Parts: sequence; structure tokens; C-alpha cells
Amino acid sequence: MKLRHSNVNSVQETLKECPSPLVLVPTMGALHGGHLALIRAAREMVGPQGTVAVSIFVNPTQFDRPEDLSSYPQPLEEDLALCEKEGVDIVFAPEIGTLYQPDHSVLVTESLLTKHLCGATRPGHFDGVLTIVLKLLNIFQPNFAIFGEKDFQQLALIRRMVRDLDAQTEIIGHPTVREADGLALSSRNRKLTPIHRADAPRIRRALLAAQSIHQTGEQKPQVYLDATRHHLSKDAPEDFRIDYLQLVDSESLQPLAKVTSRATLATACFFGPVRLIDNIQIRD
Ligand code: PAF
Repeated sequence: MKLRHSNVNSVQETLKECPSPLVLVPTMGALHGGHLALIRAAREMVGPQGTVAVSIFVNPTQFDRPEDLSSYPQPLEEDLALCEKEGVDIVFAPEIGTLYQPDHSVLVTESLLTKHLCGATRPGHFDGVLTIVLKLLNIFQPNFAIFGEKDFQQLALIRRMVRDLDAQTEIIGHPTVREADGLALSSRNRKLTPIHRADAPRIRRALLAAQSIHQTGEQKPQVYLDATRHHLSKDAPEDFRIDYLQLVDSESLQPLAKVTSRATLATACFFGPVRLIDNIQIRD
């Protein structure tokens, strides 16, 4: 069977011959250990007889900064070799023109969960994400699709979209995969300078410090936020900047007045031009 498909018709023809269940792992390529964990979890879910599909597409409509898009790593040949090694059945790596008509004019917009976190600081980003994910779900009609929990808001939004638009795919979240020093794996890590890479685990350390406050019974969000901000900023490199730091309800994604329900502390930080995100559950 041909592994790589670059247009919708070809992938759909192949899907007709593929045994179910079908699981889709949507990616933007530059595959790292986090993606490989998703691919392995996908295989576990559907077994050796089921079908594992990976999409690789650097989706331009979800980039809010042109320099972020133009510098996004695209090692397609390496990615294909990794997929083959992992026993992926189908890779969909389309050209941009295959997915978006030049006059495309329909977008999926969510209006509540996008008000905070990345939705507030990256206008339009989630319209792009939801639109491409819905397109992929429509093209593949998979039984399952797997997404990493590092992108906490993205996962919540995709679940909401599937619920609200009656998509027939079950959305699976997969725990964040980390380097030994705690840094969450991300395709953007490879853009960090050596100094920034060495410093980047401060994000994880700051979130863990906040999580430990919970053991004292503290309920005031500000206490958590102040402590995290302190750890994030202490002796940070000059070009380090917090994009946002918020404590939100894990499901509604709205800021909390009190830390009594399930809470997620989420942050985005810039190391120079490189923006990294991470989050932690404060309470289960
Ligand atoms: O998480 C990502 O890599 C992307 O946002 C996704 C879900 C593949 C959509 O382009």
C-alpha cells in the first residue's frame, strides 16, 4: 500500500481498502517524541489489524505571526521515514492548494472557550485550528483522533466542536511527553538557542511550584498566579517574556474566582521569538 498521499481523492480511495477501526493523528510535522507517543497510542487503540493515519500539514490559517509560519520546521522526508518506522498505514501530506480553494470563505469559529489563554493572545488562531481539524475529520471520518494535552485549550475546543457539530469521531487526549528536565516536547523547541533551551524548564518548575501550593488548602487564584509569575521571572533571560498566565476551570476554560473546582494553570512564554506553552492541573 502507498504510504504517502498528497491529495484528498488519493487518500480517500486508499481509505476504502483500510480495515477499521481507523485512528487519525493530526500533526504539523517536524515529528518528535510527543508525536511518536501519539502514534504508538493510536496503534495500541486499534491493534495490528486497525488503521493508523497521520496527517502532516503546516496549516497557514492558524498562524498569527508570519515569521512563525515561515520559520516553522518542515523536514518532510525525515517525518515520512519516522512514520514508516512506526508502522503508520497512511500519511496524508497535502499541498496547500489541495486543502484550501483560493477563494475559501468558511471558517469554524468558537465563541466562548476561545475568550482566554491562547485564544485571547493569538486572534484567529483557533478558527484556523478548528477549520483544519474539521476538514481532516470530514476527509478521514476516523473512529478516533488523538491530540496531545500540552495543547490544553486546543483539545478542549476540538471536543467542544465535535460535540456541538455532531462530528462522529471520538476525541482522545494524550498526556504531555517531556524531556528529562521537564520541558514539554514541542516542534518549536528546536528553534530555541542553547541558552534558551537550558533555561526553558523554568516553565515546568514554575507550574509545579504552583501545584504544590494546593496542598496548603489555598483557594485564592492570585496566590497561585503570583507564585508562578515569581518563579517564571526570577533570573530569567533578558528576552524572556510571559505572554499569559491564567488559572481557569479545566472544562469551561473560564477564569476561576476560587480554586475549588477542577483548575488548570496554563501559560505561554516567549524565549526571544519562540513561544512555548504548558499547563498543569491544580486539582483533580
Ligand atoms: O496541534 C497541532 O499540531 C495542530 O494545531 C493541528 C491539530 C495538527 C492542526 O493543524
